[in-house]
Amino acid sequence: MRAVMGKPESVALTVVFLFLALQMSFAARTPNRGCPTFTGNNTYGSPPLPLPYDGYMPAIDNETMWLHYNRHAGGAINNLNTILARYPALQPLPLAYLLLQLGSSTFVKKYNISASDVTALRNNGGSTINHAIFWRIMTTYNTSTPTNLTAELAKMINSTWGSPTGMLDALRTAAGSVFGSGWAWVVYRPDGGALKIVTTPNQDNPLMWKIVSPESAGVPLIGVDVWEHAYYLKYRNVRSSYLLQWVNLVDWSYFQRNYNLAKRGMVDSIYC
Ligand SMILES: *[C@@H]1O[C@H](CO)[C@@H](O)[C@H](O)[C@H]1NC(C)=O
Ligand SMILES: *[C@@H]1O[C@H](CO)[C@@H](O)[C@H](O)[C@H]1NC(C)=O
Ligand SMILES: *[C@@H]1O[C@H](CO)[C@@H](O)[C@H](O)[C@H]1NC(C)=O
Ligand SMILES: *[C@@H]1O[C@H](CO)[C@@H](O)[C@H](O)[C@H]1NC(C)=O
Ligand SMILES: *[C@@H]1O[C@H](CO)[C@@H](O)[C@H](O)[C@H]1NC(C)=O
Ligand SMILES: *[C@@H]1O[C@H](CO)[C@@H](O)[C@H](O)[C@H]1NC(C)=O
Ligand SMILES: [Fe+2]
Repeated sequence: MRAVMGKPESVALTVVFLFLALQMSFAARTPNRGCPTFTGNNTYGSPPLPLPYDGYMPAIDNETMWLHYNRHAGGAINNLNTILARYPALQPLPLAYLLLQLGSSTFVKKYNISASDVTALRNNGGSTINHAIFWRIMTTYNTSTPTNLTAELAKMINSTWGSPTGMLDALRTAAGSVFGSGWAWVVYRPDGGALKIVTTPNQDNPLMWKIVSPESAGVPLIGVDVWEHAYYLKYRNVRSSYLLQWVNLVDWSYFQRNYNLAKRGMVDSIYC
Protein backbone atom coordinates (compact mmCIF):
# COMPACT_ATOMS: atom_id res chain seq x y z
CA MET A 1 0.00 0.00 0.00
CA ARG A 2 1.31 3.41 -0.84
CA ALA A 3 2.00 6.11 1.67
CA VAL A 4 -1.07 8.18 2.30
CA MET A 5 0.25 11.71 2.63
CA GLY A 6 3.47 11.27 0.66
CA LYS A 7 4.60 13.33 -2.28
CA PRO A 8 1.85 14.58 -4.55
CA GLU A 9 0.96 12.13 -7.22
CA SER A 10 -1.33 12.33 -10.12
CA VAL A 11 -3.41 10.14 -12.30
CA ALA A 12 -3.33 10.48 -16.03
CA LEU A 13 -6.64 11.57 -17.40
CA THR A 14 -6.84 12.42 -21.05
CA VAL A 15 -10.14 14.12 -21.58
CA VAL A 16 -11.39 15.46 -24.85
CA PHE A 17 -15.05 16.17 -24.83
CA LEU A 18 -17.80 15.02 -27.12
CA PHE A 19 -15.75 13.96 -30.09
CA LEU A 20 -12.77 12.13 -28.65
CA ALA A 21 -12.48 9.37 -26.14
CA LEU A 22 -11.42 9.53 -22.53
CA GLN A 23 -8.83 7.18 -21.22
CA MET A 24 -7.45 6.70 -17.80
CA SER A 25 -3.96 5.34 -17.87
CA PHE A 26 -3.44 2.74 -15.23
CA ALA A 27 0.09 3.13 -13.99
CA ALA A 28 1.75 -0.21 -13.36
CA ARG A 29 2.72 0.89 -9.87
CA THR A 30 -0.88 1.36 -8.84
CA PRO A 31 -2.42 -2.11 -8.84
CA ASN A 32 -5.56 -0.99 -7.04
CA ARG A 33 -7.82 1.86 -8.08
CA GLY A 34 -5.03 3.98 -9.48
CA CYS A 35 -5.57 6.45 -6.68
CA PRO A 36 -5.20 6.45 -2.90
CA THR A 37 -8.08 4.94 -0.97
CA PHE A 38 -6.75 6.10 2.42
CA THR A 39 -7.42 2.76 4.06
CA GLY A 40 -5.25 -0.32 4.33
CA ASN A 41 -7.67 -2.57 2.50
CA ASN A 42 -8.56 -0.89 -0.78
CA THR A 43 -11.86 0.52 0.41
CA TYR A 44 -12.31 4.27 0.22
CA GLY A 45 -11.60 6.35 3.30
CA SER A 46 -11.66 10.09 3.95
CA PRO A 47 -8.72 11.88 2.34
CA PRO A 48 -6.68 13.82 4.89
CA LEU A 49 -7.96 17.25 5.82
CA PRO A 50 -5.01 19.62 5.34
CA LEU A 51 -5.85 21.75 8.40
CA PRO A 52 -7.44 21.04 11.78
CA TYR A 53 -11.25 21.46 11.92
CA ASP A 54 -10.84 24.93 13.40
CA GLY A 55 -8.21 25.92 10.80
CA TYR A 56 -10.74 27.37 8.37
CA MET A 57 -12.01 30.15 10.60
CA PRO A 58 -13.38 32.73 10.24
CA ALA A 59 -14.85 31.51 6.94
CA ILE A 60 -15.97 28.10 8.19
CA ASP A 61 -16.50 27.27 11.83
CA ASN A 62 -15.15 24.21 13.53
CA GLU A 63 -18.43 22.45 14.08
CA THR A 64 -19.50 22.82 10.45
CA MET A 65 -16.14 21.48 9.34
CA TRP A 66 -16.34 18.49 11.67
CA LEU A 67 -19.88 17.56 10.68
CA HIS A 68 -19.19 18.13 7.00
CA TYR A 69 -16.04 16.01 6.93
CA ASN A 70 -17.14 13.18 9.21
CA ARG A 71 -20.88 12.92 8.78
CA HIS A 72 -21.78 14.25 5.35
CA ALA A 73 -18.72 13.41 3.27
CA GLY A 74 -17.75 10.46 5.48
CA GLY A 75 -21.25 8.99 5.24
CA ALA A 76 -21.15 9.07 1.46
CA ILE A 77 -17.80 7.27 1.46
CA ASN A 78 -19.28 4.49 3.59
CA ASN A 79 -22.21 4.21 1.20
CA LEU A 80 -19.85 4.06 -1.77
CA ASN A 81 -17.91 1.21 -0.15
CA THR A 82 -21.12 -0.68 0.56
CA ILE A 83 -22.19 -0.46 -3.09
CA LEU A 84 -18.76 -1.33 -4.48
CA ALA A 85 -18.62 -4.39 -2.22
CA ARG A 86 -21.42 -5.84 -4.36
CA TYR A 87 -19.58 -5.12 -7.64
CA PRO A 88 -16.07 -6.61 -7.46
CA ALA A 89 -15.47 -5.88 -11.14
CA LEU A 90 -15.93 -2.14 -10.52
CA GLN A 91 -13.49 -2.05 -7.63
CA PRO A 92 -10.23 -1.75 -9.63
CA LEU A 93 -11.51 1.22 -11.66
CA PRO A 94 -10.37 4.73 -10.76
CA LEU A 95 -13.33 6.55 -9.31
CA ALA A 96 -13.22 9.42 -11.82
CA TYR A 97 -13.39 6.92 -14.66
CA LEU A 98 -16.19 4.87 -13.08
CA LEU A 99 -18.25 8.01 -12.49
CA LEU A 100 -18.14 9.24 -16.03
CA GLN A 101 -18.92 5.77 -17.41
CA LEU A 102 -22.16 5.70 -15.43
CA GLY A 103 -23.56 7.74 -18.30
CA SER A 104 -22.84 4.93 -20.78
CA SER A 105 -25.55 2.28 -21.15
CA THR A 106 -22.98 -0.11 -22.61
CA PHE A 107 -20.85 0.22 -19.49
CA VAL A 108 -23.83 -0.11 -17.15
CA LYS A 109 -24.96 -3.24 -18.99
CA LYS A 110 -21.48 -4.73 -19.10
CA TYR A 111 -21.10 -4.46 -15.33
CA ASN A 112 -24.78 -5.28 -14.68
CA ILE A 113 -25.31 -2.21 -12.49
CA SER A 114 -28.92 -1.80 -11.37
CA ALA A 115 -30.63 1.52 -12.00
CA SER A 116 -30.79 2.32 -8.29
CA ASP A 117 -27.07 1.56 -7.93
CA VAL A 118 -26.25 3.83 -10.89
CA THR A 119 -27.96 6.64 -9.00
CA ALA A 120 -26.34 5.73 -5.70
CA LEU A 121 -22.88 5.52 -7.28
CA ARG A 122 -23.41 8.86 -8.98
CA ASN A 123 -24.41 10.51 -5.71
CA ASN A 124 -22.01 8.86 -3.28
CA GLY A 125 -19.07 8.53 -5.67
CA GLY A 126 -19.66 12.11 -6.76
CA SER A 127 -19.64 13.24 -3.15
CA THR A 128 -16.40 11.36 -2.54
CA ILE A 129 -14.55 13.01 -5.40
CA ASN A 130 -16.15 16.44 -4.93
CA HIS A 131 -15.26 16.68 -1.27
CA ALA A 132 -11.71 15.49 -1.90
CA ILE A 133 -11.33 18.48 -4.21
CA PHE A 134 -13.03 20.81 -1.76
CA TRP A 135 -10.81 19.82 1.19
CA ARG A 136 -7.67 20.24 -0.86
CA ILE A 137 -8.42 23.58 -2.52
CA MET A 138 -8.87 25.37 0.83
CA THR A 139 -6.05 26.72 2.97
CA THR A 140 -5.70 29.10 5.90
CA TYR A 141 -7.88 32.20 5.54
CA ASN A 142 -6.20 35.17 3.83
CA THR A 143 -2.82 33.48 3.49
CA SER A 144 -2.68 32.59 -0.20
CA THR A 145 -2.58 35.15 -2.98
CA PRO A 146 -2.63 34.90 -6.78
CA THR A 147 0.84 36.45 -6.97
CA ASN A 148 2.42 33.03 -7.39
CA LEU A 149 0.47 32.13 -10.53
CA THR A 150 2.51 31.62 -13.67
CA ALA A 151 2.26 34.45 -16.18
CA GLU A 152 0.50 32.05 -18.55
CA LEU A 153 -2.29 31.21 -16.11
CA ALA A 154 -2.56 34.79 -14.84
CA LYS A 155 -2.96 36.02 -18.42
CA MET A 156 -5.69 33.47 -19.11
CA ILE A 157 -7.55 34.51 -15.99
CA ASN A 158 -7.16 38.19 -16.81
CA SER A 159 -8.32 37.78 -20.39
CA THR A 160 -11.47 35.99 -19.25
CA TRP A 161 -12.36 37.76 -16.00
CA GLY A 162 -10.09 40.83 -15.83
CA SER A 163 -8.28 39.69 -12.70
CA PRO A 164 -8.12 36.78 -10.25
CA THR A 165 -10.60 38.66 -8.06
CA GLY A 166 -12.88 38.94 -11.09
CA MET A 167 -12.69 35.18 -11.48
CA LEU A 168 -13.69 34.63 -7.86
CA ASP A 169 -16.51 37.17 -8.21
CA ALA A 170 -17.81 35.17 -11.18
CA LEU A 171 -17.45 31.95 -9.20
CA ARG A 172 -19.49 33.46 -6.36
CA THR A 173 -22.19 34.61 -8.77
CA ALA A 174 -22.41 31.15 -10.33
CA ALA A 175 -22.38 29.46 -6.93
CA GLY A 176 -25.10 31.79 -5.71
CA SER A 177 -27.27 30.86 -8.67
CA VAL A 178 -27.25 27.10 -8.04
CA PHE A 179 -30.84 26.11 -7.32
CA GLY A 180 -30.94 23.81 -4.31
CA SER A 181 -27.88 21.68 -3.61
CA GLY A 182 -24.85 21.60 -5.86
CA TRP A 183 -21.40 22.87 -6.69
CA ALA A 184 -19.69 25.65 -8.61
CA TRP A 185 -16.39 25.05 -10.35
CA VAL A 186 -13.55 26.61 -12.27
CA VAL A 187 -12.81 24.02 -14.91
CA TYR A 188 -10.26 23.46 -17.63
CA ARG A 189 -11.83 22.64 -20.95
CA PRO A 190 -9.64 20.12 -22.78
CA ASP A 191 -11.31 20.96 -26.08
CA GLY A 192 -9.21 24.12 -26.36
CA GLY A 193 -7.78 24.69 -22.94
CA ALA A 194 -10.07 27.53 -21.94
CA LEU A 195 -10.97 28.16 -18.33
CA LYS A 196 -14.66 28.29 -17.54
CA ILE A 197 -16.95 28.62 -14.53
CA VAL A 198 -19.68 26.00 -14.42
CA THR A 199 -22.15 24.59 -11.93
CA THR A 200 -23.41 21.06 -11.32
CA PRO A 201 -26.48 19.92 -9.41
CA ASN A 202 -26.40 17.59 -6.40
CA GLN A 203 -23.09 15.68 -6.32
CA ASP A 204 -22.36 15.72 -10.03
CA ASN A 205 -18.82 16.57 -11.07
CA PRO A 206 -17.64 18.18 -14.33
CA LEU A 207 -15.58 15.03 -14.93
CA MET A 208 -18.83 13.05 -15.35
CA TRP A 209 -18.94 14.20 -18.92
CA LYS A 210 -21.25 11.40 -20.09
CA ILE A 211 -23.81 12.59 -17.54
CA VAL A 212 -23.53 16.34 -17.07
CA SER A 213 -24.50 18.84 -19.74
CA PRO A 214 -21.72 19.43 -22.29
CA GLU A 215 -21.51 23.05 -21.10
CA SER A 216 -20.61 21.84 -17.59
CA ALA A 217 -17.97 19.31 -18.57
CA GLY A 218 -14.32 19.89 -17.80
CA VAL A 219 -11.46 19.11 -15.44
CA PRO A 220 -12.19 20.73 -12.06
CA LEU A 221 -9.50 23.13 -10.80
CA ILE A 222 -11.46 24.82 -8.00
CA GLY A 223 -14.72 23.57 -6.50
CA VAL A 224 -17.00 25.17 -3.94
CA ASP A 225 -19.69 23.24 -2.11
CA VAL A 226 -23.00 25.10 -1.87
CA TRP A 227 -25.02 22.40 -0.15
CA GLU A 228 -26.60 23.92 2.95
CA HIS A 229 -24.59 21.55 5.15
CA ALA A 230 -21.49 23.49 4.06
CA TYR A 231 -22.63 26.75 5.65
CA TYR A 232 -25.99 26.61 7.41
CA LEU A 233 -24.82 26.59 11.07
CA LYS A 234 -22.89 29.84 10.72
CA TYR A 235 -24.60 31.60 7.83
CA ARG A 236 -28.10 30.14 8.05
CA ASN A 237 -29.75 30.60 4.66
CA VAL A 238 -27.43 33.39 3.49
CA ARG A 239 -25.28 31.56 0.98
CA SER A 240 -23.82 34.78 -0.41
CA SER A 241 -22.19 35.62 2.95
CA TYR A 242 -20.60 32.19 3.06
CA LEU A 243 -19.28 32.64 -0.47
CA LEU A 244 -17.83 36.09 0.30
CA GLN A 245 -15.79 34.49 3.07
CA TRP A 246 -15.05 31.23 1.29
CA VAL A 247 -13.07 32.83 -1.53
CA ASN A 248 -10.46 33.91 1.04
CA LEU A 249 -9.67 30.23 1.64
CA VAL A 250 -8.65 29.46 -1.95
CA ASP A 251 -5.19 27.92 -2.19
CA TRP A 252 -3.80 29.54 -5.33
CA SER A 253 -0.76 27.29 -5.47
CA TYR A 254 -3.06 24.30 -5.60
CA PHE A 255 -5.14 25.89 -8.31
CA GLN A 256 -1.94 26.38 -10.31
CA ARG A 257 -0.94 22.78 -9.67
CA ASN A 258 -4.33 21.52 -10.85
CA TYR A 259 -4.03 23.62 -13.98
CA ASN A 260 -0.55 22.28 -14.74
CA LEU A 261 -1.84 18.71 -14.40
CA ALA A 262 -5.00 19.36 -16.44
CA LYS A 263 -2.93 20.72 -19.30
CA ARG A 264 -1.10 17.39 -19.38
CA GLY A 265 -4.39 15.47 -19.34
CA MET A 266 -4.13 14.56 -15.66
CA VAL A 267 -5.95 14.98 -12.39
CA ASP A 268 -4.49 14.84 -8.91
CA SER A 269 -4.67 11.31 -7.57
CA ILE A 270 -6.26 12.60 -4.37
CA TYR A 271 -9.36 13.33 -6.45
CA CYS A 272 -10.15 9.76 -7.37
C1 LIG B 1 -10.98 -1.12 5.80
O1 LIG B 1 -10.22 -0.31 6.65
C2 LIG B 1 -10.96 0.72 7.29
C3 LIG B 1 -10.00 1.55 8.13
O2 LIG B 1 -8.71 1.49 7.64
C4 LIG B 1 -12.06 0.12 8.15
O3 LIG B 1 -12.81 1.14 8.72
C5 LIG B 1 -12.95 -0.76 7.29
O4 LIG B 1 -13.90 -1.40 8.10
C6 LIG B 1 -12.13 -1.80 6.55
N1 LIG B 1 -13.01 -2.50 5.63
C7 LIG B 1 -12.96 -3.80 5.43
C8 LIG B 1 -13.93 -4.34 4.42
O5 LIG B 1 -12.17 -4.53 6.02
C1 LIG C 1 -14.26 21.11 17.09
O1 LIG C 1 -15.51 20.43 17.02
C2 LIG C 1 -15.44 19.07 17.41
C3 LIG C 1 -16.80 18.46 17.16
O2 LIG C 1 -17.84 19.32 17.56
C4 LIG C 1 -14.99 18.97 18.86
O3 LIG C 1 -14.86 17.62 19.21
C5 LIG C 1 -13.64 19.68 19.01
O4 LIG C 1 -13.27 19.68 20.35
C6 LIG C 1 -13.73 21.11 18.52
N1 LIG C 1 -12.40 21.71 18.53
C7 LIG C 1 -12.21 22.97 18.83
C8 LIG C 1 -10.79 23.45 18.77
O5 LIG C 1 -13.12 23.72 19.11
C1 LIG D 1 -27.52 -8.83 -12.87
O1 LIG D 1 -27.87 -8.42 -11.57
C2 LIG D 1 -29.11 -8.91 -11.11
C3 LIG D 1 -29.36 -8.33 -9.73
O2 LIG D 1 -29.36 -6.95 -9.79
C4 LIG D 1 -29.09 -10.42 -11.07
O3 LIG D 1 -30.37 -10.90 -10.69
C5 LIG D 1 -28.71 -10.97 -12.43
O4 LIG D 1 -28.56 -12.36 -12.34
C6 LIG D 1 -27.42 -10.34 -12.92
N1 LIG D 1 -27.14 -10.76 -14.28
C7 LIG D 1 -25.96 -11.20 -14.66
C8 LIG D 1 -25.84 -11.57 -16.11
O5 LIG D 1 -25.00 -11.31 -13.91
C1 LIG E 1 -8.52 39.37 5.17
O1 LIG E 1 -8.07 40.21 4.14
C2 LIG E 1 -8.94 41.29 3.89
C3 LIG E 1 -8.47 42.03 2.64
O2 LIG E 1 -7.10 42.03 2.54
C4 LIG E 1 -8.99 42.19 5.12
O3 LIG E 1 -9.88 43.26 4.90
C5 LIG E 1 -9.50 41.35 6.29
O4 LIG E 1 -9.47 42.10 7.49
C6 LIG E 1 -8.68 40.09 6.48
N1 LIG E 1 -9.33 39.27 7.47
C7 LIG E 1 -8.70 38.53 8.35
C8 LIG E 1 -9.55 37.79 9.34
O5 LIG E 1 -7.49 38.43 8.36
C1 LIG F 1 4.72 31.57 -3.33
O1 LIG F 1 5.57 30.49 -3.59
C2 LIG F 1 6.60 30.38 -2.61
C3 LIG F 1 7.53 29.29 -3.08
O2 LIG F 1 6.82 28.19 -3.56
C4 LIG F 1 5.97 30.08 -1.27
O3 LIG F 1 6.98 29.98 -0.27
C5 LIG F 1 5.03 31.19 -0.90
O4 LIG F 1 4.35 30.88 0.29
C6 LIG F 1 4.01 31.41 -2.01
N1 LIG F 1 3.24 32.60 -1.72
C7 LIG F 1 1.93 32.65 -1.86
C8 LIG F 1 1.32 33.96 -1.53
O5 LIG F 1 1.25 31.70 -2.19
C1 LIG G 1 -3.51 40.14 -14.15
O1 LIG G 1 -4.30 41.15 -13.54
C2 LIG G 1 -3.86 41.50 -12.23
C3 LIG G 1 -4.88 42.41 -11.62
O2 LIG G 1 -5.21 43.46 -12.50
C4 LIG G 1 -2.46 42.09 -12.30
O3 LIG G 1 -1.99 42.38 -11.01
C5 LIG G 1 -1.54 41.07 -12.95
O4 LIG G 1 -0.26 41.64 -13.14
C6 LIG G 1 -2.07 40.62 -14.29
N1 LIG G 1 -1.22 39.53 -14.75
C7 LIG G 1 -0.91 39.37 -16.04
C8 LIG G 1 0.04 38.25 -16.36
O5 LIG G 1 -1.34 40.07 -16.91
FE1 LIG H 1 -20.55 18.89 1.23
